[in-house]
Amino acid sequence: MFTYLGGGRVRTGKSGHAYIFNAKSGEFYIYNRELAVGAQSNVQLVTNVSTHEVVVRKVSRHRRDLKDESDLATMPRDNELRILDRLNSIRHNSVYPQPGLTPRWTTCISHEDLAIMSTGPRPRLQCAQVSYWKLCNGSDLADLSSRWYRGEFGKEMLGHVFPVCLVARCIAQVCETLHFMYQAGPEAVYHNDLHLGNIFLHYDSRSNGGLPDFYLGDFGLAFTASEDLAGRAKQAPVAPGLFPGIDGPNERERWDVVTFRSAIENIDHYTRIPLTEAFDPPSPKPPSEQSVRLQRLMYMLKFIDGQDEQLAARNPQSRPPSLLEVILEAKKLEASALEIERDTVPFKALMAWGRSLKARALREEPYVFESEKRPEPPERVHVFMQQQMRVAQAEKHGEDIVEGPWTLVESE
Ligand SMILES: Nc1ncnc2c1ncn2[C@@H]1O[C@H](COP(=O)(O)OP(=O)(O)O)[C@@H](O)[C@H]1O
Ligand SMILES: [Mg+2]
Repeated sequence: MFTYLGGGRVRTGKSGHAYIFNAKSGEFYIYNRELAVGAQSNVQLVTNVSTHEVVVRKVSRHRRDLKDESDLATMPRDNELRILDRLNSIRHNSVYPQPGLTPRWTTCISHEDLAIMSTGPRPRLQCAQVSYWKLCNGSDLADLSSRWYRGEFGKEMLGHVFPVCLVARCIAQVCETLHFMYQAGPEAVYHNDLHLGNIFLHYDSRSNGGLPDFYLGDFGLAFTASEDLAGRAKQAPVAPGLFPGIDGPNERERWDVVTFRSAIENIDHYTRIPLTEAFDPPSPKPPSEQSVRLQRLMYMLKFIDGQDEQLAARNPQSRPPSLLEVILEAKKLEASALEIERDTVPFKALMAWGRSLKARALREEPYVFESEKRPEPPERVHVFMQQQMRVAQAEKHGEDIVEGPWTLVESE
């Protein structure tokens, strides 16, 4: 039996599976679980009913009010999709070809704008932007580094350092993508939100010891160089030197390498300081040769960053400097560190973790909603109170909140 539950945040009082129909692509998906709640979207794992592919569904959290359904046509295009369309067309038709470079960013499968009624005491018609993406099966770099830090890879990791080859590969691949974004098209494209949570890992091949590939995701705040300059021209002037290091209205974007370098410094730290039990003081060891080389690589990034700062101040129209030298060095370091580290305890544990994530993505199960989990608030209570009680219950049984719209199919 199908019960249509169109709407924003839909909670269920019935048991069954949630089916999602993508009207644009004409495909059905089944809801598996929530993957993340990001700053701008609710991220879910769903399975395509006909191909059985497990994919990511992003539902925007910020919604514009609509006058009526026809208003959907006037909604501005989602920024992430706009930028990725641009980057994909540059990839296929590069103005300045970048031979030998493989840029990596997430792949959008399809997307649609939907008119849905918001929940709450005063329901309003709103636009929800929904998109479907290829899954990067290894989660993101913030997740990996915090798991390492919290000792989630087992007691055997105590006294060991984080593998350098993984960090070097990350630097090589992220810089490969950034270099492409800055140099291949008619103008540079900036990501503008390059923290560890927006670098996704994908474990796919057995080559290179099973190391993951690193993809850039979440281009929601990205812009092109000319959009950046146009935006700055409208800003109020900032007194020179008032905010040191922050680019002023007449400078161009100080690129993503600044953010990337400071984000990766956390993980770089774990390649030198062995893991200890919580609250135990770190016991530094003499740095290994590969960790010294990683330091040099980090220094190289800092040096190029300094060059960029000068270029940006001198000429707002300039592109960021080349990252080719860093990419080359990082690739060499990845290969030599891998030879030394491939039989070490942490390397084996991290690769086994990657294999388990890859296997998990093949075994995703549809989520079963259970009606008895959440009693409905009594009807005699005021509508507002009912709403509050539902919210409280939803928080308690948070896993039952699925961003809609979807259709509940009752289980037998
Ligand atoms: N294609 C994907 N593959 C794997 N994980 C993803 C994917 N897209 C998003 N995620 C996960 O969801 C989180 C939030 O998604 P993101 O695209 O960064 O949205 P937001 O703009 O809300 O931050 C990410 O940090 C990542 O862990
Ligand atoms: Mg994000």
